[in-house]
Amino acid sequence: MTIHAPSSSGDKTWIVPAAVLGVAAAVAAGAHAAARYRLLSWQGKYRSRVVGIIPDRFASSRFPGKPLVRILGKPMIQRPWERAKLASALDRIVVATDKEKIAECCRGFGADVIMTSEECKNGTERCYEALQKLGENYDIVVNIQGDEPLIEPEIIDGVAKSLQGSPDAVFSTAVTSLKPEDGLDPNRVKCVIDSHGYAIYYSRGLIPFNKSGKVNPQYPYLLHLGIFSQSFDSNFLRIYPSLPPTPLQLEEDLEQLKVLENGYRMKVIKVNHDVHGVDSPEDVDKIEALMRERNIW
Ligand SMILES: *[C@@H]1O[C@H](CO)[C@@H](O)[C@H](O)[C@H]1NC(C)=O
Ligand SMILES: *[C@@H]1O[C@H](CO)[C@@H](O)[C@H](O)[C@H]1NC(C)=O
Repeated sequence: MTIHAPSSSGDKTWIVPAAVLGVAAAVAAGAHAAARYRLLSWQGKYRSRVVGIIPDRFASSRFPGKPLVRILGKPMIQRPWERAKLASALDRIVVATDKEKIAECCRGFGADVIMTSEECKNGTERCYEALQKLGENYDIVVNIQGDEPLIEPEIIDGVAKSLQGSPDAVFSTAVTSLKPEDGLDPNRVKCVIDSHGYAIYYSRGLIPFNKSGKVNPQYPYLLHLGIFSQSFDSNFLRIYPSLPPTPLQLEEDLEQLKVLENGYRMKVIKVNHDVHGVDSPEDVDKIEALMRERNIW
């Protein structure tokens, strides 16, 4: 697995100028402009403290009881926790759940657990609630997916460090190469980025679009890895759930567009990664086979 992060890559397009500041005053319109302004003008201080949060999503309709299913003998949720332990950017790692059964299991293997409410609508909200309950200040929150047992520690570090290296970004996420045959699949979200590695747009359609109307096999299209690993500025995380839905977000049905449409910047890192999430009971066998192959126990 290779990360083309600004520091480790010779690829010039990924290098971020040290001080890209001052966009805050650019556009001040709309209900959230003031909040955005406050948030961005606060930026500039190096965000050193990073917490990794693994929000449990117990209520999976396709796979009830998923977090506790055994993957090569260990509960599923222990896997990303162990992987996160190998990351160097995290000062603390916690599991956030609303189920005592899961909390007990996690404490059993040594995890730090924060109980969150049943009201959380998604992982992001759960991360925010956990952050408030931590009783310590963190500048950056890495949201680590609980059902991706093979998450690479390098990707966790990548999204944390790229945010630290981009003071004007509030969010960081990962992309990988899109296979040309997936170019027209609306379930594969494409991303285009600027020459500093910031997201310009995400789409379910093919972007960039070739005038031939076909996928250009030569073009290095980017596939968004989605919620798989993301990091947030803590102050941004506080206002994120309350940002109103935006037209492009609603039309594409893509949550992340809300961030861009509200005028925030997102840093994108390129990684080599195949997603091996566990979404159904059948996926367990597949992932176990893969882990044996890679000698991960
Ligand atoms: C479009 O795709 C073709 C290959 O299918 C490529 O040769 C061409 O450079 C691309 N761009 C334009 C503007 O045609
Ligand atoms: C989580 O849910 C809230 C609504 O309560 C929404 O505003 C927010 O955008 C959602 N986040 C994600 C990542 O789906």
